[in-house]
Amino acid sequence: MIVTIDGPAGAGKSTVAKTLAGRLGFEFLDTGAMYRTIALKLLRQGGLQRLAELNHWIHEVDLRFEPGRAWLCGDEVTGDIRTPEVTGLVSVVAEHALVRQKLVGIQKAYGVGRSLVTEGRDQGTAVFPESPCKFFLVADVLERARRRKVELEKSGVTVDLETLAAQIAERDRRDANREIGPMIAAHDAIHVDSTGKTIPEVVDHLHSHVEKRISALHSELSKNASK
Ligand code: DC
Repeated sequence: MIVTIDGPAGAGKSTVAKTLAGRLGFEFLDTGAMYRTIALKLLRQGGLQRLAELNHWIHEVDLRFEPGRAWLCGDEVTGDIRTPEVTGLVSVVAEHALVRQKLVGIQKAYGVGRSLVTEGRDQGTAVFPESPCKFFLVADVLERARRRKVELEKSGVTVDLETLAAQIAERDRRDANREIGPMIAAHDAIHVDSTGKTIPEVVDHLHSHVEKRISALHSELSKNASK
């Protein structure tokens, strides 16, 4: 079974998805890391002014992902994809049709035959629309900025709260308004607001929905088998 968690930056998707996957014994897929890896490659090529050349290298770029880790052209880039420079570039990269085509293909292939908790912006809509259990996780923008500030400070980066909130709001705007794979809740997604909630509270909430869904699927299966 595939569980999808979509929603804006900083709503807690990664930690929630990872913890939920651990509880369920499922694998965890962080699709934002994939877009970040392409943004890092572009940054290393010279940044936005070299965007046009992406059309030439995107098809053969060597990418590898494992839960919580990423490799670009054979080098591990797990830490490098989290810098403010990559974060500043990534939503432009994520608008690119060929980038989305490549990464959606990798994600769909990864989901084949696996039990997965996957998180991103388009997992319940474009990548795994057939998933029986979808969530859309949101939180107030200031709270998201506060959480990001704490995270950045842990890695030695100091950014002021208002600047961070403005950057997050701008990234949300770009993610929600792009033509392909926009950040949007699937029609059958369960909306969850994590504002003022702890991670374990949010995970408990999602976990109980997943368990209900699993037992509903089991009873459907046994009803069909006894027909
Ligand atoms: O979740 P994150 O902050 O690591 O995501 C980085 C960027 O990648 C963000 O701007 C949105 C984009 N993204 C996307 O367009 N589609 C996804 N499935 C995941 C992330």
